[in-house]
Amino acid sequence: MKALILSGGKGTRLRPLTYTGAKQLVPVMNKPILWYGIENIVASGVTDIGIIISPETGDEIRALTGNGERFGARISYILQESPAGLAHAVKTAQPFLGESPFLMYLGDNLIQDQLHTFIEKFKQNHLDALILLKHVNNPTAFGVAKLDSQGRILQLVEKPKEPPSNLALVGIYFFSPQIHQAISAIRPSQRGELEITDAIQQLIHHSQSVEACELLGWWLDTGKKDDLLEANRILLDTSLFASALCFENSKSHITGRVKVGEDTQIIQSTIRGPVVIGENCRIENCFIGPYSSIGDNVTLVNAEIDHSVVLEGATIENIDCRIVDSVVGRRAHLIAMPKRPKALRFMIGDDCQIELT
Ligand code: G1P
Repeated sequence: MKALILSGGKGTRLRPLTYTGAKQLVPVMNKPILWYGIENIVASGVTDIGIIISPETGDEIRALTGNGERFGARISYILQESPAGLAHAVKTAQPFLGESPFLMYLGDNLIQDQLHTFIEKFKQNHLDALILLKHVNNPTAFGVAKLDSQGRILQLVEKPKEPPSNLALVGIYFFSPQIHQAISAIRPSQRGELEITDAIQQLIHHSQSVEACELLGWWLDTGKKDDLLEANRILLDTSLFASALCFENSKSHITGRVKVGEDTQIIQSTIRGPVVIGENCRIENCFIGPYSSIGDNVTLVNAEIDHSVVLEGATIENIDCRIVDSVVGRRAHLIAMPKRPKALRFMIGDDCQIELT
């Protein structure tokens, strides 16, 4: 079994963060989203992994993620010249996939469930496709499945205006090599993409064995700010165990599960976990509240921050009201004069969102 991770695309829904970087590398709990997927795949016993990259962000993904050694895997990179759809990505990866069955994983999806139980079901039932489904409130934003009373798939539709159910297709699929033939039989959709949903529908149409499994744990498609904060909250809740309480001498109060990286100074500050703070940061006279992730090389002085993600190299100084539910991009500066500001001076990039509430 091989794995194909899709890590191309333009990340329009996470702009402006994704003007300067790949959406799959945006960190959740200080680790790139993409790496959670790789770790889950490797934990399921699949170590031959191909990653689809785009010309815009491929180099960055390759440089950070490497040849797979750090994950105990072998990673090959496959360039998809244009974002022509998920099925087009599979077509592009055909030389890598050969005649092997494979799992396909969209690089911005995060799930709680382990993958190995699905792989077992896929193998035991000799399936041509196994899809994962989850109930959602906004099915029009996804591929949607209609099942019969026995749980058999009747129909799959991509982003339907009138959804036949609220069962969304999760961005993780298991395929036999039959999928290649199905892909060669489909045409681009209305949005001009070769849809994997249409290719699976094609398999169903030709009575190939396609089954669905409902996900039991949480599923996050991290393509938007609120989903990113939610992913950060859930992972801090469920996966942060370590605590490093070595700052008693600096008049700071650190409570709950707090993880602090090397060479980070915490001075006269209160930190209430779960919180993760990266390496080489300076936190002085601050409050950092639950569900916050602070990246490496961040400076926070005279600031209060809560339920937020601050990316690498950002600086926040002298902000006299609490920053909440926020995502602050790499190397961003948010600085006020030490006294209450009488005027605000900005240089705000395209697509930034600043709410003075
Ligand atoms: C893609 C698939 C869709 C699926 C979704 C899950 O949509 O086309 O069927 O439900 O991923 O993340 P996209 O995110 O490319 O719009």
